[in-house]
Amino acid sequence: MKHFLDLANCTTAELQDLMELALRLKAEWRGGGNAAILHGKTLGMVFQKPSLRTRVSFEMGMKQLGGSAIMLGPNEIGLGVRESVPDVARVLSSYVHGIMARVYDHADVVTMARHSRVPVINGLSDDYHPCQALADMLTVREQFGALNGLKLAFVGDGNNVAASVALACAHFGMTFSIATPEGYEMKAHIREQAQAVAARNGTIIEMHTRPQLAVAAADVVYTDTWVSMGQEAEAGERASEFHAFQVNADLLRAAKPTAVVMHCLPAHRGDEITDEMMDGPRSRVFEQAENRMHLQKAILARLLA
Ligand code: CP
Ligand code: NVA
Repeated sequence: MKHFLDLANCTTAELQDLMELALRLKAEWRGGGNAAILHGKTLGMVFQKPSLRTRVSFEMGMKQLGGSAIMLGPNEIGLGVRESVPDVARVLSSYVHGIMARVYDHADVVTMARHSRVPVINGLSDDYHPCQALADMLTVREQFGALNGLKLAFVGDGNNVAASVALACAHFGMTFSIATPEGYEMKAHIREQAQAVAARNGTIIEMHTRPQLAVAAADVVYTDTWVSMGQEAEAGERASEFHAFQVNADLLRAAKPTAVVMHCLPAHRGDEITDEMMDGPRSRVFEQAENRMHLQKAILARLLA
């Protein structure tokens, strides 16, 4: 594994290795601290969009492994505006040992990887959020002990988070069942990628337009914002298209009695998810947020150590 850009271009074995390493690093950290395996290493973090979790979990992850991180926010580099993406990649990769980038156009993070001398990690693009989805698999594994055979239902927008969660489920032998309003399905090429991985691992991707059908007998009910970063102008239209796609107590009755509720955050309480679901005993949303750090340390260890 040279870069970490999307889960379609990783093997299932690579993802299983990252999961096992994340579990070991988390236990080590809880036991008093991680070994300084990234001593002297620096991660450059390029953000075209805002962030709480991604920024802080990568920076703390680097620190916990003995390294450091440099934050380059939306107004600093001017990726593709002040300077071309290949030139940014050439220059930045001569200073740092790894790059994490959060971009709009997924092609930009691919271009960065092509022109970078050091590994590039996708910290969210308009198409994918692979660090989120793999960290979420860690959370589901901690909850249920194993992943194979579980059913995850995604309710809402078939966007970047849904795409990566679909691919993650396909890799780990879980059924992925999604309900979206018409017109908000996962992109066709990403659906095909997920279906190809699912077929290899003996599982399926189901698509619905009614949340109740997607959630039937699910072990995990997952949602994301209805209005992603960059879609703010569509907020009004989306609110009316998605109003029947809220994760609430009524919808959860269709899932298994043991089902847990997940959200990548930031959440828009009262829109895609109720306070009752976010704060209730079945919520795993804050465990998800913490696990971003542990899972990303595994990625950093494999790519930068
Ligand atoms: N879930 C997630 O990536 O959060 P941030 O946008 O705060 O990084
Ligand atoms: N789909 C959301 C995820 C945020 C972590 C977005 O792209 O804004």
